[in-house]
Amino acid sequence: MEYAKMLYSNPRGIGCNKCHGEKGEGTIISQYTLKGKTVVLEAPNITNLSKERFFHALTTQHKVMPTYFLTWQEIDSLYYYVSSEVKK
Ligand code: HEC
Repeated sequence: MEYAKMLYSNPRGIGCNKCHGEKGEGTIISQYTLKGKTVVLEAPNITNLSKERFFHALTTQHKVMPTYFLTWQEIDSLYYYVSSEVKK
């Protein structure tokens, strides 16, 4: 658990907590106006996803979220961390 927590706030690169919040609850990263419309850039809540979806998200490329090169053990730890926080 301690290891997973450490990994969540300091994986290789930028911490997941910077965008998804301390417990994976999701945050608004940024908000801007484009052609008179307000655009909200949000990082989703990741605390109640299926393991498949979580793994998929961390092994593919995204527009906003950086691509990480984590081992499956690391992804497993992260999944354990964000998922277990919900139950407490
Ligand atoms: C720069 C901000 C940023 C960082 C850092 C970041 N994410 Fe994300 N993440 C996003 C955004 C935005 C999305 C949704 C849009 C997308 O797919 O790009 C997302 C999507 C996800 C999803 C998919 C959610 C779904 O509903 O399918 C998971 C899982 C996830 N992130 C986990 C993580 C984990 C774990 C880390 C740390 C290793 C992390 N993210 C780091 C911004 C970030």
